[in-house]
Amino acid sequence: MKMIVVKNHEEAGVLVANIIADVVRDRKNACLGLATGGSMECVYASLAELFARGEICFEAVATVNLDEYVGLPPSHPQSYRRYMDRHFFDRVDIDKSHTYIPLGMEPPERMLSDFQNFLDARPRDFQLLGVGANGHIGFNEPGPVFESRAHIVTLNERTRRDNARFFASIDEVPRRAVTMGIGDIMKASRIVTLVHGENKLQAVRELFTHDRVSPEAPCTVLKLHRDAAVVLPEYLARLAGV
Ligand code: F6R
Repeated sequence: MKMIVVKNHEEAGVLVANIIADVVRDRKNACLGLATGGSMECVYASLAELFARGEICFEAVATVNLDEYVGLPPSHPQSYRRYMDRHFFDRVDIDKSHTYIPLGMEPPERMLSDFQNFLDARPRDFQLLGVGANGHIGFNEPGPVFESRAHIVTLNERTRRDNARFFASIDEVPRRAVTMGIGDIMKASRIVTLVHGENKLQAVRELFTHDRVSPEAPCTVLKLHRDAAVVLPEYLARLAGV
């Protein structure tokens, strides 16, 4: 697992967008695994800029998102479907019928089988990841084992608190989410993780100060991937002492 330190978060966004652009230029019908959250907004802004300048085309690209809140309809302003439309899909030429985000309103059995069927059918050329303050990736929260396949999780109170900034109050943050499992995340040919925010210090230390891999800090599994990079802004690398 490679560490790439850049000047600041904006530079991280440009770097990661350029990596994604290269994946798509190499393979027009690439399948991209995508993430949401505050850290990713600069990546999508940079991709939209590359598109506006005519430097990239998403016409044949397929995407699949890591997760969605259980109980939120796609039309909810804080659903990850709306996030993706707002920050990325509506700003480029992607065919939305080629974009998959699990449906948080579906009955659980169908939600999981549709999601897993999609993942089994479409290997990902690239996976974009963020990291939660507690080390989660996707919504794989710390726990006794790595869950391999798509599953429903109860969100940690810390995760709900961190995400409350996107809702009117913490009471509105859903308690459950559906997420891609660790096994499927690890199947992507290439993984790039973007870490931003001083609340991620512990996660950064888990990644870079020792070799331990533990489901209690789910991001540590990335140490086992053959082509994984973690992009950090300078301030975070300095604070974490890595
Ligand atoms: C969201 C996701 C999460 C976020 C993580 C960091 O699709 O997969 O793992 O990447 O919670 O979120 P931010 O960037 O808001 O700190």
